[in-house]
Amino acid sequence: MTPVPSFVNDVPRERLPALLAAAPKAELHMHIEGSLEPELIFELARRNGVSLSYPSVEALRAAYAFTDLQSFLDIYYAGASVLLTEQDFEDMAWAYFQRAAADNVVHAELFFDPQTHTERGVPIGVVINGLTRGIRRARQELGLSAALILCFLRHLSEDDAFATLEAALPYRDRFIGVGLDSSEVGHPPEKFARVFARCRELGLHVVAHAGEEGPPAYVWSALDVLKVERIDHGVRSLEDPALVERLRADGMALTVCPLSNVKLCVFPDMAQHNLVRLLRAGLKATINSDDPAYFGGYMNANFQAAFDALPELGPAEAYTLARNSLEASFVDAGQRDRWIEQLDAVFRAHAA
Ligand code: ADE
Ligand code: ZN
Repeated sequence: MTPVPSFVNDVPRERLPALLAAAPKAELHMHIEGSLEPELIFELARRNGVSLSYPSVEALRAAYAFTDLQSFLDIYYAGASVLLTEQDFEDMAWAYFQRAAADNVVHAELFFDPQTHTERGVPIGVVINGLTRGIRRARQELGLSAALILCFLRHLSEDDAFATLEAALPYRDRFIGVGLDSSEVGHPPEKFARVFARCRELGLHVVAHAGEEGPPAYVWSALDVLKVERIDHGVRSLEDPALVERLRADGMALTVCPLSNVKLCVFPDMAQHNLVRLLRAGLKATINSDDPAYFGGYMNANFQAAFDALPELGPAEAYTLARNSLEASFVDAGQRDRWIEQLDAVFRAHAA
């Protein structure tokens, strides 16, 4: 674990909210389809002549009362049905990037779910070209760096994942890695052993959702079978001390999503979130927004909600969480170190 510089402890508590907002951060766990706000869903539905099963923005938002991951996924996939053209994907990404930049996210590694779109007849090239246009615009107009991680839907078969990989290969230079998302329980990582092996051979980065609703055994197989470089969520790892030791010894990053975990009832409320225990166990936790349009907030809202509910979180944890996000990103070392210098400068500026 990187030691916290001494000036971090000179930050007065009352400056924490401003500091959390100002710190440069990387977002490593955000499903771009989960950034579709109800207003944009309705706008795209109108533009594309898609009918929705909710009469208004308010009625749709009122349906965001989830009991578990599946209850969310059903609405999330329905929301994504309005996305048809490159322009739609660019508009969705651009809306997210504006919010991310306002939160001082300097780098975002975005998940996207091609199978959600190809199964509706939207070619994978439309998805990737539209998102790429959004990424270019974010770099040019906001100075924000971003990259794509293609996620396989784990409720579908490994053969489907192979077909998706094949279809994506003409666009190999447009995404940096692959991930695994959707319904976790009943679909363990080892179901995708062969396709992840192929992705590693292709030089892609590999990550997977594990230990969100699923047991520690899924985190073990994400590590040992899929050989992932980060664990998405991983909050249930604390149930297994041997796993905690393995994650700590490997310096394995966990992309934790506090508001998501509460909205999907992984924890009954934020005060019972295990973020503090993860950090105290020496694990490389990061903070992320997962599906911000559905879970009540973007990056800074996740930081603020966690810090409001967990009094043990102070300036040292704020520094560690932001720094972990930069260290766990897949950017080159030179760029990462420049952002860490910026992070240090922001903390110095807030120190007493
Ligand atoms: N797809 C979008 N958000 C997800 C999450 N939190 N877990 C699994 N799959 C997802
Ligand atoms: Zn997720």
